Amino acid sequence: MRTVDLIQRKRDGEELAPEEIEFLVEGYTNGDIPDYQVSSFLMAVYFSGMSDREVSRLTECMLRSGETVDLSAIPGHKVDKHSTGGVGDKTSFIVAPLAAAAGVVVPMMSGRALGHTGGTLDKLESIPGFRTNLSTEEFRKQLAELGLAFIGQSDELAPADRKLYALRDVTATVESIPLISSSIMSKKLAEGIDSLVLDVKVGNGAFMKKQVDARRLAQTMVGIGRRMDKKVQALITDMNQPLGYAVGNALEIMEASQTLQNAGPADLTKLSLELAARMIFLGKKAGSLDEARLIAEKHLVDGSGYKKLKQVVAAQGGNPQALDKFELLPNATGMREITSPRAGYVSVIDAEDIGVASNMIGAGRDKKEDAIDPAVGIILEVKVGEKVDAGSVLCRLYYTKEDKVEEAADMVEDAFRISAGKPDERELILEVVG
Ligand code: URA
Repeated sequence: MRTVDLIQRKRDGEELAPEEIEFLVEGYTNGDIPDYQVSSFLMAVYFSGMSDREVSRLTECMLRSGETVDLSAIPGHKVDKHSTGGVGDKTSFIVAPLAAAAGVVVPMMSGRALGHTGGTLDKLESIPGFRTNLSTEEFRKQLAELGLAFIGQSDELAPADRKLYALRDVTATVESIPLISSSIMSKKLAEGIDSLVLDVKVGNGAFMKKQVDARRLAQTMVGIGRRMDKKVQALITDMNQPLGYAVGNALEIMEASQTLQNAGPADLTKLSLELAARMIFLGKKAGSLDEARLIAEKHLVDGSGYKKLKQVVAAQGGNPQALDKFELLPNATGMREITSPRAGYVSVIDAEDIGVASNMIGAGRDKKEDAIDPAVGIILEVKVGEKVDAGSVLCRLYYTKEDKVEEAADMVEDAFRISAGKPDERELILEVVG
């Protein structure tokens, strides 16, 4: 079998056989097939798509590229949550502790920044000392003790996703239903879950810009889960503006911490509570979804979710005090305000532009080997629908290096639209699939 022939066949829209997909995944994971050929293959998939059979096989091969964690010795239902990627999306740090505080076992394997979106692992690593590279044994032990652990893909767990994810990030091949589905489902199935809650984002800051595509992505992942005997439920949620106010690694940790102390933005709190409730219900800690909602809220209000996050941060080597004393987190050295050119209503905040601008000043990567600057990012001062005066501050850019600030500031300015009329309110949670 030759890689170049498989690239060509996928480029021409043909369906690949299971053993051909296996050849590609295995070859790339063990280093026999180089980045440039896999980049080309990914681009062919981006344009030609994949059949359900191909996606299932790709997911299975990626899952089998490493070990699968056996969590059967830990009592209770194991439930995780994953987002398809958004801007300012820090719900993982809120929902996972809330569900774990309610007694659900939450093995959470996450990814790094992808495209214009942020990554849970990069955000966590902005907490001084925090380790995401737990061994499988450490992961299992922490789950048994605390009911929650955050890890990334490794040489043992879903290594194919780790390599493909990093390559997609820098080859403009992220926004593809088969590639997103296989990436998410392979790592989620590797971590030993029983059930999964998915947050499928749609809108200008999501990889899926149209609800019909988001629905197809959700259905593909729910279908993969069903074939693997896992209960998967997907919420399709609005990503037409950043979630909450903070965008950027340490900045998002600060906002998540405030939200877990019941002092967070309304949209972030609402979505986090709903996702946590679904985890609690699927985790069999409530008899109905309504009861699960009350449980999630109780753990937010009484601070037990926040306490759980602090325990987990300490267990993974991080400084839990950084969740209260934000000066212990990396802090930017420069700040630039973006103001409104006129009075009116904020009618658009293009979340993709905000994400790209944040990456431009260092919150994301241009190349695989780039380091992230954990301190930088953007804090919105307004949300869609708010009234502003001419000269009102729309957002602030926090940076540590001057070189890209002008370009990023121009992009952020263009991300806002100020209109004479108040825009219609948009629903945050649009649909449930599964
Ligand atoms: N999250 C993932 O883990 N993979 C993707 O491809 C997109 C979002």
